[in-house]
Amino acid sequence: MTTDAAPKPAARPSSLPVKPRIYSGIQPTGRPHLGNDLGAIRNYVALQDRYEAIYCIVDYHALTHVHDPEVLRRQTLEMAAALIALGLDPERCTVFVQSDRPEVTELCWLFNTVTPVGWLQRTPTYKEKRANQPDDVNHGLLTYPVLQAADIALPKASLVPIGKDQAPHLELSREIVRAFNARYGVTFPEPQAVYTEAPTVLGTDGVKKMGKSVGNTIEVLAEPDVIRKQVMSMVTDTQRIMRSDPGRPQVCNVCQMHRFFGDDYEEIWEGERTARTGCVDTKKLLAERIIAHYAPARETYRELMADPVRLRRILDEGAERIRPIVEATMTEVRERMGLR
Ligand code: TRP
Repeated sequence: MTTDAAPKPAARPSSLPVKPRIYSGIQPTGRPHLGNDLGAIRNYVALQDRYEAIYCIVDYHALTHVHDPEVLRRQTLEMAAALIALGLDPERCTVFVQSDRPEVTELCWLFNTVTPVGWLQRTPTYKEKRANQPDDVNHGLLTYPVLQAADIALPKASLVPIGKDQAPHLELSREIVRAFNARYGVTFPEPQAVYTEAPTVLGTDGVKKMGKSVGNTIEVLAEPDVIRKQVMSMVTDTQRIMRSDPGRPQVCNVCQMHRFFGDDYEEIWEGERTARTGCVDTKKLLAERIIAHYAPARETYRELMADPVRLRRILDEGAERIRPIVEATMTEVRERMGLR
């Protein structure tokens, strides 16, 4: 007996998982940067205890734009090691590589047959990609959202933590699932987005969102000297020319970043406003704080990258853990569609 005063949870049908199942896919972009961590990964870490969480490194999706096998393999492992180093605990959530559960490609094909081409042609990201890589408008780019719907539906996840930029994809996932359910009977929950209050982290240029392809990143898991160099290159308040000019913390990207690395940012801002401190001081402090904050993660990351056998084993276990869930879904789907 427990004397705990917390209210008893309402009884649930035994077929439903005790905690809602969440799923999110992460592109294998290699070692993540500050924007990845503050914008998404921190949030994945926070969700792993509240939900039954599945996180997948989506290497099949990456094939629509990464064509070098060595690069893909390396970046997949780097992302895996980083996710674990930054706090995803393989004991408390499932971390796996998409191509380790190839059933998703079968579900993707089956979903293709309930998805009108028009829906895909209208997808904003498809239009963007067509403009950005005009020499490589492969069919994978068009089908990308169908594979994403299959990712989510395969473990019957009902919640999907994503950034706002993924809203159109999630809407399509919902429509595809709805189309499947309408034709073959209710099989999948309609997935819902969990938009997190993730800040948009600007890059070192202070203008564009931090991104690897823009080249304006702070690589939090890199060697301290790399971080120092990247932080020192940051653009601050462009109207503060002289050291004696008052700074404007609300428009200074360095000041804004201090919010995430200490409770005393108001004080730091005050120093800028009154020109007691200069931009260089504020940057140096930020660099040291980032280095210190990520020191344990940097160490774990280094250890995992130095032990690919161990890393591979963790990922294999992740893929193995969801095998029964995936197989049950596929058996049901094949049956409903007349394949067995
Ligand atoms: N499209 C997502 C991105 O670019 C990655 C992704 C693939 C995903 N499958 C998913 C996200 C399923 C959420 C759920 O970031």
